[in-house]
Amino acid sequence: MTREEALDSVKDNVENKNLVKHMLATEAIMCALARCLSEDEEEWGITGLLHDIDVELTDGDMNSHSKLGADLARELGASETMAHAILCHNEAHDVPLETNLDKALFCADPLTGLITAAALVRPDKKLVGVEARSVRKRFKEKSFAAGVNREQISRCREIGLELDEFIELGLAAMKGIADDLGL
Ligand SMILES: [Fe+2]
Repeated sequence: MTREEALDSVKDNVENKNLVKHMLATEAIMCALARCLSEDEEEWGITGLLHDIDVELTDGDMNSHSKLGADLARELGASETMAHAILCHNEAHDVPLETNLDKALFCADPLTGLITAAALVRPDKKLVGVEARSVRKRFKEKSFAAGVNREQISRCREIGLELDEFIELGLAAMKGIADDLGL
């Protein structure tokens, strides 16, 4: 499966533009993580791009979310490693994180939300002026973007990144596609 085929499939299955943007942001962070860790950038990027492909199809049912996503990814030609990462990013299944790809997707997913929220509170609602240290401050403010799971983001340490490094990498990755994100 090519990246374009993955994106087409995401657009076929997801109407909500913000959800598509979330998957693009996750893809960008996953590509940056793969570069940083000398992993397969295409594999990691496509995994990020596809990870929530089933959110509308499963309609809030956390018991099927990400199981269906993993199946759809397999049908598109994703490897078992990619399908596993998609499956276990939803904690409801209690599938342990095993590979670096599993762990990377797990911590990248919520980081997109924190960074997006940090941009949206600015007067221009853009990423360009957002600094890593302000995202770090927001991270500590529990009431800010309260739905973002900080503990999940902190698990970047399991792939060898300190939180500050991870925030910096994620912010730079999302700034790189700011136009696509509308931020
Ligand atoms: Fe997600």
